[in-house]
Amino acid sequence: MSNIISLKNVRKDFKEKSALKNVSFQVEEGEIFGFLGPSGAGKTTSIKLMTAQLIPSSGEVKVFEKEVYKNKRFIFQNVGILSDNSGIYERLSVWDNLVLFANIYDVPSKNVEEILDKVDLGKDLKMQAGKLSKGMKQRLMIARAVLHKPRLLFLDEPTSSLDPGTSLEIHKLLRKLNQDGTTIFLTTHNMEEADKLCDRVAFLNDGEIVEMGNPRDLKLKYTTDEINVVLRDSKESIVLKNSTETGSKIKTWMEQGKLLSIHSMEPNLENIFLNLTGREL
Ligand SMILES: Nc1ncnc2c1ncn2[C@@H]1O[C@H](COP(=O)(O)OP(=O)(O)O)[C@@H](O)[C@H]1O
Ligand SMILES: [Mg+2]
Repeated sequence: MSNIISLKNVRKDFKEKSALKNVSFQVEEGEIFGFLGPSGAGKTTSIKLMTAQLIPSSGEVKVFEKEVYKNKRFIFQNVGILSDNSGIYERLSVWDNLVLFANIYDVPSKNVEEILDKVDLGKDLKMQAGKLSKGMKQRLMIARAVLHKPRLLFLDEPTSSLDPGTSLEIHKLLRKLNQDGTTIFLTTHNMEEADKLCDRVAFLNDGEIVEMGNPRDLKLKYTTDEINVVLRDSKESIVLKNSTETGSKIKTWMEQGKLLSIHSMEPNLENIFLNLTGREL
């Protein structure tokens, strides 16, 4: 598999602030890759660098193995972008919104029908966009971002303003797009979202990547050798070292029917981030 995105030693300085310092990572075709970090970490700046909206101060930003800022047109034609300033025309219908953009992007109008089906808005095409629910609106914006069937889709905090149920609806759609072959790069400060959705994540803090990997691997890497046990009589949780001694204790409790719950102290991505940076998301 080839790298669809590759950043090497990328730095982006604004007048008073260095938004990215020496950032390097690669994304393989077919992945859902998540950029995680608190507000101000440099997530949006990174997306802008990868979508030819900003030029790096130094380092190399390649998408489809091409230097992004030297291939603006090519990049615009071949990636999809959903950012928080992507708008829709509230007074136009779902259908007219998409046809309008199909015309602008010179996309055949048969794509519109196909995409509407994919985002499950086929029945709502006559509805005025302003009257859609938040989830439907977001699906319409995603439809717009993929009208030209890009191989690579960038989403900047696609669920940050949505409630949990609506977020799940968007996750489902993103998985479907991914299964149909779209590589997805998304930013989020929602660790649970990243954990469920992403093949790999990178933790971004203050313009630097502090950790990167598959969510499950990361949780195993940072797991502690502690076991949490709750007994029937006390109902308080007891933390024990993972040892042979603990093993025989647990065995006895089990035999006596005292064991209410037992689990290993696997951290979640939130804990890992906090441990690495001292910051919450
Ligand atoms: N155009 C700009 N001019 C000056 N500073 C900027 C500009 N864009 C972003 N920044 C600064 O760069 C840092 C990273 O911003 P951003 O990439 O938007 O973070 P995030 O998307 O992770 O919240 C922030 O400190 C922000 O204030
Ligand atoms: Mg941002």
